[in-house]
Amino acid sequence: MREIVSCIDYVGVNDRTTQKFEALWPLPQGVSYNSYIVRGSKCTAMIDAVEISQCEHLLKNMNGAQPDYLVINHMEPDHSGAIPVLRKYFPQMTIVGNIKTLDMVKNYYGIEDNVLKIADGEELDLGGLTLRFYLTPMIHWPETMMTYVPERKLLFTGDAFGCFGALNGAVTDSDIDISPYIPEMYRYYSNIVGKYGTFVQKAINKLNCIEANYLCPTHGPVWHENLRYISSIYNRLSKYEAEPGVVIVYGSMYGNTEDMAELIADQLVQEGVRNIRIHNASYTDLSYILSDIFKYNGLIIGAPTYSNGLYPPVEAVLNAIKVRELKNRYVGAFGSFTWAPQSLKRIKTILQEMSLCTEDIPTAETKCGVSDTAKVQCISLAKEIAAKVLS
Ligand SMILES: Cc1cc2nc3c(=O)[nH]c(=O)nc-3n(C[C@H](O)[C@H](O)[C@H](O)COP(=O)(O)O)c2cc1C
Ligand SMILES: [Fe+2]
Ligand SMILES: [Fe+2]
Repeated sequence: MREIVSCIDYVGVNDRTTQKFEALWPLPQGVSYNSYIVRGSKCTAMIDAVEISQCEHLLKNMNGAQPDYLVINHMEPDHSGAIPVLRKYFPQMTIVGNIKTLDMVKNYYGIEDNVLKIADGEELDLGGLTLRFYLTPMIHWPETMMTYVPERKLLFTGDAFGCFGALNGAVTDSDIDISPYIPEMYRYYSNIVGKYGTFVQKAINKLNCIEANYLCPTHGPVWHENLRYISSIYNRLSKYEAEPGVVIVYGSMYGNTEDMAELIADQLVQEGVRNIRIHNASYTDLSYILSDIFKYNGLIIGAPTYSNGLYPPVEAVLNAIKVRELKNRYVGAFGSFTWAPQSLKRIKTILQEMSLCTEDIPTAETKCGVSDTAKVQCISLAKEIAAKVLS
């Protein structure tokens, strides 16, 4: 149990053994599932729970606290998994959520009794401390909400403002070097929340009226000292705003498409682009590719033609980008083939379906090895993208 502010403690847990979050996203630095205890003079509330395998750690961290309420800001099982166990330990504890939360509590865990349905803006008096609930749907599930404690100017934000990376000793950002958590925030946002930028923006605007000195997410550090910096990152990411730089994602079996990627990168540097990230889609985990794509404003995709279609690892990246409704990027495309070109056409079609760019997409294409014509196209593609991303 760790005090955040007077009468509000951290009781969350670190998970340093799960290899992939949602069985998809690598966790080289682990992840924390954050849970908090708020002690009023009349009642005690627990805010969010943890993943099922971490129940024992949670109970130990609670150090004998007897919650009267469990507030559920988000029902994804990385937080709600412990609910049935908590219900057995604390049968008197009322589960608090909105109409969508309680529907999920019933359908996941068969719990319908001793629940309290709250509406947007409603408050719960704990005695000297108040919990005020703000519905912030689709960050990144329909039931997501945030809980504010006005007396402490502290906001429990659910997955919003969260990041991968277990907590290394400290809970609040003031007590640690936050630099390892920043790339993990880009990765968490782009992997998990990325599709819902519009809803994040809605929530940010809705919560503009409250003053918060502490943001307490369900993953990663509590933001206090760096709250403004973190909010600005979140605000930018959810508006799909990006820094000058180019991500080149390509696939290649025998090196010809790869040669084009190298040529393009070489020219980008000559044009003055300094942030260039090259990812071979067969080797870099999608998680890191997406993170870079959310960070930089240029995106160039290349692939060989494969069985009259697009080389599968590149197609997977394009699908992931499409799902996330990426906006505001300068895009280019390149492709290769031996007898019937398909890849470039497919990449262009998918990019155009995303309405990423209004202008024509610059392209380069080669038959077999990189031809002189293809070299010229690669150079001109790089020049065009460089001019746009640096403008
Ligand atoms: C399994 C396989 C399927 C392919 N299918 C096609 C195809 O349908 N049409 C085509 O024009 N080329 C096809 N190719 C040829 C590649 O697109 C061509 O060799 C390309 O230059 C490979 O690029 P890379 O050297 O970057 O791997 C295929 C190659 C392989 C190995
Ligand atoms: Fe979640
Ligand atoms: Fe989560």
